[in-house]
Amino acid sequence: MSAKIISGTETAKVIREELKAEVAELVEKHNVVPGLVTILVGEDPASQSYVAAKNKTAHALGIHSEQVTLDADTSEADLLALVDKYNNDEKIHGILVQLPLPKHIDEAKVLYAIDPDKDVDGFHPVNVGKMVIGEQCFLPCTPHGVLELIQRAGVETSGAEVVVVGRSNIVGKPVANLMLQKRDGGNATVTLCHTRTKDMEFHTKRADILIVAAGVANMIKADQVKDGVVVIDVGVNRVGVTDSGKAKLAGDVDFDSVKEKAAAITPVPGGVGPMTITMLMKNTVQSARQFAGLA
Ligand code: GUN
Repeated sequence: MSAKIISGTETAKVIREELKAEVAELVEKHNVVPGLVTILVGEDPASQSYVAAKNKTAHALGIHSEQVTLDADTSEADLLALVDKYNNDEKIHGILVQLPLPKHIDEAKVLYAIDPDKDVDGFHPVNVGKMVIGEQCFLPCTPHGVLELIQRAGVETSGAEVVVVGRSNIVGKPVANLMLQKRDGGNATVTLCHTRTKDMEFHTKRADILIVAAGVANMIKADQVKDGVVVIDVGVNRVGVTDSGKAKLAGDVDFDSVKEKAAAITPVPGGVGPMTITMLMKNTVQSARQFAGLA
């Protein structure tokens, strides 16, 4: 059996059309233009391409977007001052500081400086705390995208054994938390595996839904999953260069072998990646609504 492919590209397209219509209505009926600023420090090529994609998508949806690129040696104080400027800018409803930041800048200090009401990344402790206790907040974009993909693919999560591999603050911890929340798309029994897990295979083989965000190319093989599993591969690993000179990408899951056992699986690229950017747009539109008193 070959798995159903869960296409993030297609799902993202549907949600982006919904958002485009929502933005047009906000502009026409309420004179509200959602605004997003992305701040990139340094010249990391992967970060540059992520930020460019975010701005391109914002434009396509009618969202006002500003892109600030700072030198790698920008001081922490200057970055904090910039964040403060955008905290007080009425045209801007969402602030995204692209991670990772250069080593001389305290990442936590910068994230904590963002107004939680403009924290469309969902990384501020106020939003993280609200997420954990199940209050309405900005959900972090990649975990939110994973949830949307699972739900829109019609996969039952209630009572399912969900196994998450990876415990990062950006993906593993929040996605595990969201899957166990008492709400539609949650209610799962969740196991979180990480680098110190004693017998990873014992857990991955039990999974009805396996979410992998470990950052290791092709780490999960067919003999580590059970028949009929639903696999969400969050990994984006650069494993070479294509003939046209672009980065060649591989997920954390060995797609070719695992797709023969899985019921459904996300590809890389074209899986979770497009969903992450789309959820950022959704949060930005939501923020604009909130600032306008429309939410
Ligand atoms: N770097 C990798 N993923 C992300 C993300 O979702 N948000 C930000 N700000 N930086 C990232």
